[in-house]
Amino acid sequence: MKLTNLIGTDQPNQTKNTFISDVIVGLSAAQKSISAKYFYDDIGSELFQKITQHPDYYPTKTEFSILEKINSILPSILNEPEIDIIELGAGDGHKSQLIINGFLDSGCKVNFYPIDISEKAMELLAQNLSINKQLHIHGVVADYFNGLNHLKKISNNKKLVLFLGSNIGNFNQTETNVFLSQLSAGLNQDDYVLIGFDLKKDPNILNKAYNDSDGLTRDFNLNLLARINRELAGNFNLAAFQHYGFYNPVLGAMESYLISLKDQEVRLAKTNQTFHFKAHELMHLEYSHKFSTAGMTQLATSNGFEIAELFFDEKNYFADALWQVKT
Ligand code: AVI
Repeated sequence: MKLTNLIGTDQPNQTKNTFISDVIVGLSAAQKSISAKYFYDDIGSELFQKITQHPDYYPTKTEFSILEKINSILPSILNEPEIDIIELGAGDGHKSQLIINGFLDSGCKVNFYPIDISEKAMELLAQNLSINKQLHIHGVVADYFNGLNHLKKISNNKKLVLFLGSNIGNFNQTETNVFLSQLSAGLNQDDYVLIGFDLKKDPNILNKAYNDSDGLTRDFNLNLLARINRELAGNFNLAAFQHYGFYNPVLGAMESYLISLKDQEVRLAKTNQTFHFKAHELMHLEYSHKFSTAGMTQLATSNGFEIAELFFDEKNYFADALWQVKT
């Protein structure tokens, strides 16, 4: 795999400084919070991989079942002899490989450009992709939109951007619209995107998925406190916080919180600051929005896309939406 790094070498420090300042702002607010984007250090990423394989967490395997069905259909819709597939966020490569294989099997040449902020994640992805003479892999270490800008003029090939796994559900409404409008602006007219959306469903199924029976999601959330302890010399007592995840039907989102089980002080030696938690005080960590067909359509049309196809699984738990840029 070739690699282009668009990030300066001072990036690790920049990331650390944002982590410190975001944690301070989050713990100082009236409603305490820590951004879900900080879940994914090495330990958090490993826990997330385990969650995706847990029987209670349906989204990953459900989306996989959709991709298995549509990987042979996508090439006939795009109908090109050569395409550029751009993946936002390097996953473990299993879903990317499925889609790539569909195009290769149809005789289409594929240039695959995963974009990820982490060079390490990119290397792991590359290890899981099989070699093929008709497949050219070129990783781009960058944030999504710098990466897209870099790739916009790289060829005249039609582009297919993959944003899978319902990562879009972790944005709030404003972030979602900003993200989608930047995405259509970063592509050429008639290019395609394939976006994974987790759908609204029986709240019991949702609650089970985010409160798995082996406590992986609990550990995933508590790892944020452990990360603060490791990186900011904090003294969070993990046993004094409880994971609480529930479906909020008003928001149409899973929400996850850590609840302080007692009155307590937490000190961050690195910043020389102490934060007070009242008994039963909430700290917000994550939203996972769930979507309806009408909601997805509204997002597409108000952000520069037309719907080409919507693919659902048998139970209507998840959808992969194929949209085309029409600005
Ligand atoms: C990454 N993202 C789509 C996951 C989700 O379902 O919102 C993160 C996650 N949080 C708890 N379990 C999984």
